Amino acid sequence: QKGGFPHFMLKEIYEQPEVINRAIHSLSSDTLPRFLCDAKSITVVACGSSYHAGLIFRYLAESSCGIPVRVELGSEFKYCSVPLTDVIIGISQSGETADTLSAIHKGNCNNVQTVAVTNVLNSSITRYSDVTILMQAGPEISVAATKSFTAQLGVLLQVVNLLSGRISDETLSHAGVAIEKVLLLNMEDAVTLCARAQHIFYVGRGPFYPVMMEGALKMKEISYIHAESYAAGEIKHGPFSLLSSETPVVAICLPGPSYAVMLGNLKEMKARGTPIVAIGYGDDTELSELADIVIPLDEEQLYLQIVGATVILQMLSYYTASRLGREIDKPRNLAKSVTVE
Ligand code: M6R
Repeated sequence: QKGGFPHFMLKEIYEQPEVINRAIHSLSSDTLPRFLCDAKSITVVACGSSYHAGLIFRYLAESSCGIPVRVELGSEFKYCSVPLTDVIIGISQSGETADTLSAIHKGNCNNVQTVAVTNVLNSSITRYSDVTILMQAGPEISVAATKSFTAQLGVLLQVVNLLSGRISDETLSHAGVAIEKVLLLNMEDAVTLCARAQHIFYVGRGPFYPVMMEGALKMKEISYIHAESYAAGEIKHGPFSLLSSETPVVAICLPGPSYAVMLGNLKEMKARGTPIVAIGYGDDTELSELADIVIPLDEEQLYLQIVGATVILQMLSYYTASRLGREIDKPRNLAKSVTVE
């Protein structure tokens, strides 16, 4: 069943090149709901990893399509009184997460059009929503979401592509290849650094901030190491006091609009003695002088950088948890699907 892999999680990580291609093709201009094309504003509701996918979607949809997108935790949405948008997108791998379902239900009660992005045909979310987009990741056994998260990214990238026409089909068709390259990376040194830490900070800017939120969630979920994510600019507003040679920082520092300021943030952290694991260009000499370990990600396109960094962080969590002998597929205290509020 595990196809020769020691855990379902690793098998599911390795399925991702195919999964993302399938997810991207699960949607075309003919199948994109009309009301989504006409939306003037969108709310995304979701929990856990699915919420992080929603945050990445917000960044891409707002910058490429100019559509305001609000992203709400399912557990908060029901109880907050906020103005409703034209459309609600509910993202849920299982389609059974109670908080996400009740958030969609709130939309239904207020005549908002609803879209479900889910992995499970005929799940509850499909009955609560006007339209369903199936992400087609295949069954995910490991409690930690990996391929379903990547499939959500695939579907949501395609939505942005179809709404904006600004992501080329060629870029999207490279997503699977970008993941294949990442799967060949050697994570040993970074794993050694993380496996002996009690606290790890994950920092990024722009869309890489929610990528880091997902990376930190994955690390704490399966390795039981306390991992916190921050928007890199926020570190000096408090968390700085926690930095020391005992607290590694994992950072994404790729060429782009925030590269220079990110490098500056890393210099400030390094001055506190913090070991740095950076995801960046393999030939970036300035970065390699600063970081203790550089995990190379040599993609130019933002979308491929997001997907590639996501998979790198999954691997970092998986191999760290494996080094620590954790029960990876079924972490303590957690269930695959959370069906109570
Ligand atoms: O099935 P859903 O996508 O609605 O599940 C939401 C979260 O419970 C889920 O993503 C959880 O955070 C994962 N175990 C994270 O790996």
